[in-house]
Amino acid sequence: MEEPDISKLRSARWFGSHDLTGFVHRTAIQAEGFSGFAVKDRPVVGIANSWSELVNCNIHFRLLADAVKRGVLMAGGLPLEFPTISLGESLMKPSAMQFRNLMAMDVEESIRAYPLDAIVLLGGCDKTVPAQLMGAASADIPTIMLTGGPQEPAYFRGKQLGVGTDTWKYADELRAGRMTQADFDELEASAKPSAGHCSEMGTASTMTSIVEALGMCLPSSASIPAVAARRSQFAEATGRRAAEMAVSQGPKPSEVLTPEAFDNAITLLMAIGGSTNAVIHLLALARRVGYELDLDRFHQISEHTPRIVNVRPSGEHLVQQLFHAGGVASVLKELAPLLNSDALTVTGKSLEDGYIDAPEPDGNVISKLDKPYDDEGGIAVIRGSLAPKGAVIKRSAASPKLLTHTGPAVVFDGIYDLGERIDDPDLEITEDSVLVLRNCGPAGAPGMPEWGMLPIPEKLLKRGIRDIVRISDARMSGTAFGTTVLHVAPEAAVGGPLAIVRDGDPIVLDVENQRLDLDIPDDEIERRLEELKLPDPRYRRGYGRLFVDHVLQADEGCDFDFLQSLPDEEPQRLPYGLFSGWQGGW
Ligand code: FES
Repeated sequence: MEEPDISKLRSARWFGSHDLTGFVHRTAIQAEGFSGFAVKDRPVVGIANSWSELVNCNIHFRLLADAVKRGVLMAGGLPLEFPTISLGESLMKPSAMQFRNLMAMDVEESIRAYPLDAIVLLGGCDKTVPAQLMGAASADIPTIMLTGGPQEPAYFRGKQLGVGTDTWKYADELRAGRMTQADFDELEASAKPSAGHCSEMGTASTMTSIVEALGMCLPSSASIPAVAARRSQFAEATGRRAAEMAVSQGPKPSEVLTPEAFDNAITLLMAIGGSTNAVIHLLALARRVGYELDLDRFHQISEHTPRIVNVRPSGEHLVQQLFHAGGVASVLKELAPLLNSDALTVTGKSLEDGYIDAPEPDGNVISKLDKPYDDEGGIAVIRGSLAPKGAVIKRSAASPKLLTHTGPAVVFDGIYDLGERIDDPDLEITEDSVLVLRNCGPAGAPGMPEWGMLPIPEKLLKRGIRDIVRISDARMSGTAFGTTVLHVAPEAAVGGPLAIVRDGDPIVLDVENQRLDLDIPDDEIERRLEELKLPDPRYRRGYGRLFVDHVLQADEGCDFDFLQSLPDEEPQRLPYGLFSGWQGGW
């Protein structure tokens, strides 16, 4: 590694001066047991660690952080690990999504406030990855991500489980009386056999794959299993590369996260049959670097991107099998004709450089482009009188016959109303009905929980019906499935048309023609909207209040309005005070 020019290193502004300021900053490090040598003329690499005992998916991150540190030290840097808040999809209520922006702020401000020359992000569970990327993008210091990898496959009754996808199915079996409680308990004990994120192409695997397509991690790293020695090897390599990036002061997130990189990410999203949640995260991330990514861009790319990955919930396998088939690098290689292959990555080289040596498709987990599992991408964007600013549907996980459907609405005013009435034997519903759930969006729930896969009413389940059209302003787990229209914008709680739907109103879904309409006269829609009274915000103080006051709608990524990049934004300056010791910007 070339000798760092400390006058250009950010950390030198804390540690480089031979006066009281430098003294105070260096003693803070020496108080931890480091020698003065440790901070002398060397780059400082921060490791933003989302390890937490409340987040099982990230529970191995202390070991990964140790490997990253080893790599930084090998390359002559000083690694300093710091905790951030963490977001556990399973335990956090009402929804980890409500805290994505809070974590992004934590990451951004931690990076900005401390003497760091480069950052390694350690994220895995669903929202930890976009939150870290968003925060790092706004801080815009050289950043490389190491994702946590998928957990080991689970087995139940001798069959491999997709924890998310199969859990939904078995839960329905239990409700329908076709499975005993004892068997369900056995399923529970088997479901999560190791550290690591969910191993289907749910939100976590989708986002970690997208990190590779964006060029924000080392090539071939996204799908390595969480507990594999290979992941620790890549962690070490990530640390080495971070130290190099600290010295060269690049590339920065703003240099990697270009419109071309976002197109690459969306292309991969469609090809892997990835989670609808990625749409929201990419919209938010793009706005952090000043790119007004539009919802329609997803549909445009979806139209000409075949699905070539056979992983649940759209396919059969788990991410472990994808890894053994060549991983995300092999998928990118096959997608090359559809990609901006010369996009810059954190390696300092092109995206193509990272996938060029990957294995060819095996035809089982990854298909050739001309023999895809689906001719078009998994996600469609629809609009109409029920969703003027758009909605999404994961068509690859829907029932094909329901993608064109007209039926009467059965409306639920919120999650509690749904819980009380969905299994009521007197609920007037048929397989042609359209379930509508509202007040579950970004501001309404708030936090837009993953309530969009509304349960099928028990009376229909008992008749063997497994799917009907469902519509909401909520999100859906990446492991869920069904004909579910999600992210309806504007949401009901801010006066979107979803708020005025009544039981029996005809709803028209036509995915091929990108339509979602409330089929009642326009003047009736206008009259109902004028009479509409909006609900009071659920929170009056604290972070909840900040959230409902500032969260953007789903079509803009649900970030806070004040966190988006500003066109005339200037780099933030450190405050000048007794111990800041310098007057320049950074
Ligand atoms: Fe953490 Fe699924 S619960 S990734």
